[in-house]
Amino acid sequence: MGFPLRLLSSLLLCLLALLLHRATVTSGCFSMEREALLDFKAGIHDTYNRLSSWVGQDCCAWEGVICRATTGHVVKLDLRNTFDRALRGERMNSSLLALSHLKHLDLSFNDFNGIRMPEFIGSFKKLRYLNLSSTNFMGGIPARLGNLSSLYVLDLSDALHFTSHVDNLDWLSHLTSLKHLDLSWLKLTDLPDWFSSVNMLHSLQVLSMSFVGLDTIPASVVHVNFTSSLTVLDLSYNHFKSTLPKWLWNITSLTHLDLHESGFHGVIPDAIGDLGSLTFLDLGFNQLEGIVPKSMVDLRRLKELRMPGNQLTGNLSGWLEQMTNLIILDLSYNLFNGSMTSSSVGKLSNLTELYLGGNSLEGVISEVHFENLTRLQ
Ligand SMILES: *[C@@H]1O[C@H](CO)[C@@H](O)[C@H](O)[C@H]1NC(C)=O
Ligand SMILES: *[C@@H]1O[C@H](CO)[C@@H](O)[C@H](O)[C@H]1NC(C)=O
Ligand SMILES: *[C@@H]1O[C@H](CO)[C@@H](O)[C@H](O)[C@H]1NC(C)=O
Ligand SMILES: *[C@@H]1O[C@H](CO)[C@@H](O)[C@H](O)[C@H]1NC(C)=O
Ligand SMILES: *[C@@H]1O[C@H](CO)[C@@H](O)[C@H](O)[C@H]1NC(C)=O
Ligand SMILES: *[C@@H]1O[C@H](CO)[C@@H](O)[C@H](O)[C@H]1NC(C)=O
Ligand SMILES: *[C@@H]1O[C@H](CO)[C@@H](O)[C@H](O)[C@H]1NC(C)=O
Ligand SMILES: *[C@@H]1O[C@H](CO)[C@@H](O)[C@H](O)[C@H]1NC(C)=O
Ligand SMILES: *[C@@H]1O[C@H](CO)[C@@H](O)[C@H](O)[C@H]1NC(C)=O
Repeated sequence: MGFPLRLLSSLLLCLLALLLHRATVTSGCFSMEREALLDFKAGIHDTYNRLSSWVGQDCCAWEGVICRATTGHVVKLDLRNTFDRALRGERMNSSLLALSHLKHLDLSFNDFNGIRMPEFIGSFKKLRYLNLSSTNFMGGIPARLGNLSSLYVLDLSDALHFTSHVDNLDWLSHLTSLKHLDLSWLKLTDLPDWFSSVNMLHSLQVLSMSFVGLDTIPASVVHVNFTSSLTVLDLSYNHFKSTLPKWLWNITSLTHLDLHESGFHGVIPDAIGDLGSLTFLDLGFNQLEGIVPKSMVDLRRLKELRMPGNQLTGNLSGWLEQMTNLIILDLSYNLFNGSMTSSSVGKLSNLTELYLGGNSLEGVISEVHFENLTRLQ
């Protein structure tokens, strides 16, 4: 007889616990989380009253605050600025950590000029998405961000005031779940070891480090860890003063490769043909020279090919022929020569933009050569 009674009383206890739990949730919002949000709001200068809905009990109904329906906990704080109605951060209160279930934090395009990027952001243990793009924080990036081991999207592009310099990226190597990393427009000069930190991120799909002042890139490495995951690599607007690194051609998963104006010199190697998944390739405004390798014909999926402003030579027949998916082709300001009339350009019927100026092409061309380029703009 004791057994069913014990069962009944534990059932009752469960029910009681559940009721008590619900009691702390006032109209679908935990009071602790509401207080934390109000502390956060108190440190914000909200000129345009973007947070005017942040009153009353139910914080889950406030603009930018998203709660999980089943638990009532705040899981998402999306204060991304649109149409320049920026919030100005004057201080950021660590009481925000009361949002212990937060998975998604987006403060992008707001203005935190004058305060440092808060260390405590590294303590949101469940954070999966962090977007601090264009936030104008002062100082560096706190190494404690390396504690965010569940993070799979980290966008820190232009997150610091232009006077701020990042002097360490070691913390990055701990973010092993990361799929999307954007560090563009930060100052990463004098970081000779940047590649080994990034190379630890073996799940990486998107890596953007455009305009970061990098001047070194390893010519060869023992092993590239993201050879089968990385699809987007943007290292444009740096000054590497190096030849194209060999390990690039191992990343056969790449669909988008942007090395525009990055200070590369030397020839384009045969191995470029290994990147057969590429749909976008920009090698523009480097100091690349010599003949374009025949293996380029293997880049059949290319939709956009940009290689202006180099010293590339040879003719346009051969390697262009198969690239029938091309929509944009820019080969201007190179040393291409030979006959324009025998080139394969006239077969690229999907082209909407074509730039061949500033070369040494020969021959008489007429409308007939472009008769099939009906989409050309
Ligand atoms: C954070 O908010 C709490 C509660 O309002 C306050 O006591 C504390 O001084 C604030 N801390 C900072 C650094 O503003
Ligand atoms: C971060 O936010 C900006 C807009 O504020 C957006 O353009 C960008 O795509 C976001 N980054 C990621 C990785 O979602
Ligand atoms: C978090 O980061 C700090 C600073 O980098 C470090 O001292 C601490 O051990 C880290 N904590 C965890 C749990 O990784
Ligand atoms: C990544 O590659 C380096 C060698 O460059 C290696 O030492 C490291 O163990 C690899 N890391 C992972 C997580 O695969
Ligand atoms: C590139 O791929 C080749 C062949 O698969 C392999 O032998 C080599 O170790 C790889 N190199 C790097 C840097 O991953
Ligand atoms: C174009 O260049 C290739 C390689 O340099 C060469 O083999 C071919 O004969 C040239 N074709 C013409 C029409 O000049
Ligand atoms: C033009 O592009 C479409 C896909 O966008 C493709 O199906 C078609 O084959 C291309 N045209 C040519 C002539 O290859
Ligand atoms: C094109 O330029 C290359 C390199 O300067 C030269 O070897 C070749 O003879 C030139 N071809 C033509 C058709 O002028
Ligand atoms: C245009 O297409 C037709 C039919 O496919 C072909 O006969 C002709 O040679 C093409 N013209 C050019 C300039 O490639």
